[in-house]
Amino acid sequence: MKDTLTHIVRLAMRKVRLVEEAAIFERVTNAPCQIPMHTLADVYEHCMPNDCWLIINDKVYDVTEFLKEHPGGEEIILEYAGRDATLPFYGTGHSSDTVREMEKYWIGLIVE
Ligand code: HEM
Repeated sequence: MKDTLTHIVRLAMRKVRLVEEAAIFERVTNAPCQIPMHTLADVYEHCMPNDCWLIINDKVYDVTEFLKEHPGGEEIILEYAGRDATLPFYGTGHSSDTVREMEKYWIGLIVE
């Protein structure tokens, strides 16, 4: 019972977040919201140095062009290429400036 409730609350919160993300997307792109939705399997196909996507907080980032510029080096990002890098991203203490700036690599959201 508790698990079911937790799941329902999680889905509701996720929906609220998606609506908020859509509003941000419209502000950033100045265009009607048509956020691309990707599955985990889609993202997993982009796991190479010349085609590298990451998931951070259910958002998908194409960091291919950024790999060589990454101050922490490209190898560490490639370890998570095509996968969820939320925990390592926050675990390595990225600054709030970085969290803002990384939005330029944002290409879509994860759908389950
Ligand atoms: C969109 C993805 C990412 C962006 C835009 C990004 C950007 C940056 C930036 C700008 C810094 C300099 C410190 C700061 O101001 O925050 C940094 C440092 C670092 N990043 Fe990332 N990063 C990303 C993903 C990752 C991931 C997935 C890892 C994996 C663990 C990682 C590991 C590190 C480490 C270890 C440093 C510290 C380097 C040092 O101080 O020597 N980063 N990153």
